[in-house]
Amino acid sequence: MENNKTFTMIKPDAVANGHIGGILEKIIKSGFKIVAMKYISLSAEKAGEFYSVHKERPFYKDLVAFMSSGPIVAAILEKDNAIEDYRKLIGATDPSKAEPGTIRNLFAKSIDANAVHGSDSDENAKIEGDFFFSAFERF
Ligand code: CMP
Repeated sequence: MENNKTFTMIKPDAVANGHIGGILEKIIKSGFKIVAMKYISLSAEKAGEFYSVHKERPFYKDLVAFMSSGPIVAAILEKDNAIEDYRKLIGATDPSKAEPGTIRNLFAKSIDANAVHGSDSDENAKIEGDFFFSAFERF
């Protein structure tokens, strides 16, 4: 499987706090190409489907409510070693543990409102990208 793509969302907290531009600038300056991108709102049903792998986790209900609480930016990004490099760029899931200068360190407030999502494997990057984008929406 190719290892040069990842999937990201700029979450409702970061959108509401005016950080779309700041986050996209970090992504582009870090060498990622934007293959696909859209500004949309997830229904609770769609958010639940996207995060269904976490269905049994105690935070699932709050996660679904949060991810459907306002618009998000969804994107497929391309770069050599995309999964690992993007996870480095965004920092730890819990922003209080994220390295200085990472996206979550700069733009996130809590583990729930943690500014961005990043795929954790090549397999999930493909599943997540396919969830949002058709072949005609990729460049
Ligand atoms: P994300 O990378 O989008 O994947 C699942 C999300 O669940 C995660 O970011 C967090 O925003 C949220 N979440 C809330 N609590 C936890 C937790 N204890 N562990 C992992 N993720 C959590």
